[in-house]
Amino acid sequence: MCSIFAYKGYRDAAPLIVKALSRMEYRGYDSVGIATYDKTIMVKKGVGNVSYVNSRLNLDRLHGRVGIGHTRWATHGAVSDTNAHPHLSCNGTIAVVHNGIVENYATLRHKLASEGHVFSSDTDSEVIAHLLEDALTKPYSYDKMLGKLLNILNGSYSFVALINDGMLVGARYHEPLIIGLTNPSKDGNNNNGDDCIYADECFIASDVLAFIEYTDKAVFLADGESFLVNYADTKQRVMVKILDRDGNATNKEITQIAWEFADVDKGRFAHYTLKEIHEQSYTIDRAFNASSDRLRELINVLINADRIIVTGSGSSYHAALIAKHLFSKLCMLSCDAIVASEFIYSIDAYAYANNASKPLLIAISQSGETADVLNAVRIARGKNFKIASIVNAPLSTLARASDTYLSINAGPEIGVAATKSFTAQMALLYRISIEVAKDKGMSPPALDIGSSNLYVERILGAEAYISDVAESIKNVNSIYIIAKGIHHAIALEGALKLKELAYVHAEGIHAGELKHGPLALIDGKSIVIALNPMDDTYGEMLTSIHEAKARGACIIGVSDSRCSMYDFTLAIPRVDRLLYPLYEVIPLQLLAYHMALKRNCNPDYPRNIAKSVTVK
Ligand code: AGP
Ligand code: GLU
Repeated sequence: MCSIFAYKGYRDAAPLIVKALSRMEYRGYDSVGIATYDKTIMVKKGVGNVSYVNSRLNLDRLHGRVGIGHTRWATHGAVSDTNAHPHLSCNGTIAVVHNGIVENYATLRHKLASEGHVFSSDTDSEVIAHLLEDALTKPYSYDKMLGKLLNILNGSYSFVALINDGMLVGARYHEPLIIGLTNPSKDGNNNNGDDCIYADECFIASDVLAFIEYTDKAVFLADGESFLVNYADTKQRVMVKILDRDGNATNKEITQIAWEFADVDKGRFAHYTLKEIHEQSYTIDRAFNASSDRLRELINVLINADRIIVTGSGSSYHAALIAKHLFSKLCMLSCDAIVASEFIYSIDAYAYANNASKPLLIAISQSGETADVLNAVRIARGKNFKIASIVNAPLSTLARASDTYLSINAGPEIGVAATKSFTAQMALLYRISIEVAKDKGMSPPALDIGSSNLYVERILGAEAYISDVAESIKNVNSIYIIAKGIHHAIALEGALKLKELAYVHAEGIHAGELKHGPLALIDGKSIVIALNPMDDTYGEMLTSIHEAKARGACIIGVSDSRCSMYDFTLAIPRVDRLLYPLYEVIPLQLLAYHMALKRNCNPDYPRNIAKSVTVK
């Protein structure tokens, strides 16, 4: 949930670290800190986001060509200057930044304290600094030391430690950590022929976004792997050694990162969130037209499964609900959609009830790093499920843990709120459903996704009006989004956008359920958004809208047709009735974005949450 960055090379580390942390700030940002080494370790850290803490403490002026940095998303210990990372060992010779949770930190802290270690923070992370200090006082080699440390720590972690000889050491387990390298080679001038990698510079980060502008060559650490980074003999190059779980050198491939990152900046947009809403004019079509061997592979796996469960968290769970509808409607496949964090409580009710012999779990995740989803995959794997995933990060932990995966190819999504990734997930699910239907000898409808850019542009063209609607309702306390059928998943998604962007309580409700209770909440101050496209739900939706209208509610209609009952209309284009979900979510995204602005919320960095929830 936080972001880690480390650098060792020929440039000043501090400015690079500050810039990299800014690029990854979507991952969590309640406090910031960096440490560099130049004859001694220097640390600066504090509460606030990167630009604020840098302006207060001049982080980017620290000296040294090696350093580490961290933006925190607190789990253990309040948000405070002392609990910000990096954390130091007693003698200040080791600085550590950590992502994740050390679940046995209390036991470790108690033991270390009883041995004389003095702690300065309330975090779980600080134990790593003291454990390393402990290990370095014993006759361990760095290699063996890291292997031993990984056997002591329980929980999920990725960490990097800066030692006061300029060495960087670290490891990952269930938290991402990637090593970027400029001009890498394996033929260093090291004559002992070990598996070291040599490079001009080494970047270590939670996300490739942090270093992609410098290099697209990277090594992706597997769980349990650790590393050492030091200068090579000539001091002109760095030497990187990757160790397996036992502390033995291992030969890792250097990966070429394929993502186009030309657009990693906001460009002409005020926020990443708005930019990414607008990018849907081409990302929907691009996701739908995924053509790869993997598409064929996933379709085969789907057709051969005798039990299908689709899982995800947040917006990706809403995409899983869409999958349930599309698989049923378009290719007569029955599946269940289960929230990833509930998977462990649902699995026996789903898999064994039907004595499935070929169960399949489809895991949907934009980041591919969501702990709840990875946990669901681990549970399913243990019950002999095949695993297929739909990700936006082809090199993510989830993609690597799957038997097969498909990328939604939406490009980097920096805004914490899922926007283009959600519609890209839906677009790919439409494509999969159609291809399965064809394979099953059915005649699926020819869906016109090719015009999606026109349809999205038309919705975006109403942005000023949607901003006015946001102005009209900006002080509301609750918003109810009612819908029927497949549109209920969009109602849930729209409600999530309003919650996380504008901090407005919002609820997606099955329209037919209004009269079974929620109607008691509706009065003259209520805002009711009705997803009401001209499809088979239209007639019955009018009845529900009327029920709310009769209690004085303000009705916002999301529809391709006007109706006198609407106080406001968020227009969507008239498309093939099956495709309405793809488009009706976009006005809701824009409404949530503009309500955030009207309520002085930062849409790119909503409070309390982060882009990738890598802790359970
Ligand atoms: C969506 O706007 C939220 N940021 C959140 O619910 C998100 O969808 C969820 O954390 C899942 O993330 P993932 O798709 O990367 O797994
Ligand atoms: N658990 C650590 C802390 O609370 C790290 C949290 C994070 O990943 O940011 O400081």
